[in-house]
Amino acid sequence: MTPSRNILIYETPEQVAQAAAESFVRDVQTAVTANGRFSVALSGGNTPKRVYALLATEDFAKRIEWDKVHIFFGDERSVPPDHPDSNYRMVLESLISRVSIPADNVHRIVGEGDPVKNARLYEDLLKSFFAGQPWPRFDLVLLGMGDDGHTASLFPYTSAVKEKEAWVVANWVSQMATWRISLTAPASNHARHIMFLVTGPSKAERVAEVFRATNDWERLPARLINPVAGILEWLLDKDAASRLNLEAAKRLATD
Ligand code: 6PG
Repeated sequence: MTPSRNILIYETPEQVAQAAAESFVRDVQTAVTANGRFSVALSGGNTPKRVYALLATEDFAKRIEWDKVHIFFGDERSVPPDHPDSNYRMVLESLISRVSIPADNVHRIVGEGDPVKNARLYEDLLKSFFAGQPWPRFDLVLLGMGDDGHTASLFPYTSAVKEKEAWVVANWVSQMATWRISLTAPASNHARHIMFLVTGPSKAERVAEVFRATNDWERLPARLINPVAGILEWLLDKDAASRLNLEAAKRLATD
């Protein structure tokens, strides 16, 4: 499969969420038909919350065979699962608790305790799910991008952005004085489909920078995300896309 990259621009954040939820449903149907199961790595942050809430509505939920869906996480904060900052808690409240997904199909990253040990545990869990594969082949990876260009918990200039072998790392983020646990860029890059969801004017300059032809990935970790054999889509609202030089971005997207 030749990798392909697309930029999709919508009027409003709501339209971005609707499009992402539709795409999620299509991916589930394709994967379940082909392999009998669907695996997704979900993102934290505010932007995807509406997508999760939409997926839990009857219109979307009834089109998904939830017992074939396996939910993983792209990153987690160093907090217990009931903490307000927990990505697991956010997804539990907005999606998991509202649909009929078996508990065994939800694979959270442990955030409490030793982050290095927890990263290793998560990598082991992924290696047993994707048994015998050199890298995880998620059907879908959802990502957001912070104002500073981070994605998942790959923050600018942290050791995680240089990782080439591990699937999961514990990442010390000095700018926030905290540990995060994150899928690495190569682990995400082996997915069949990667969707970035980015909305709002505060992201506009960073989005434009990501699509300028520069290899400044240590400063802009979102640039590390390029599927090896899959589809990359950037779903933007018009505010996030407002500084984008579309012609240049499209050229880069088809490089
Ligand atoms: C997290 C994330 C993170 C997020 C970005 C964008 O755990 O916070 O996975 O990478 O996607 O910070 O967040 P917003 O959607 O809130 O802007």
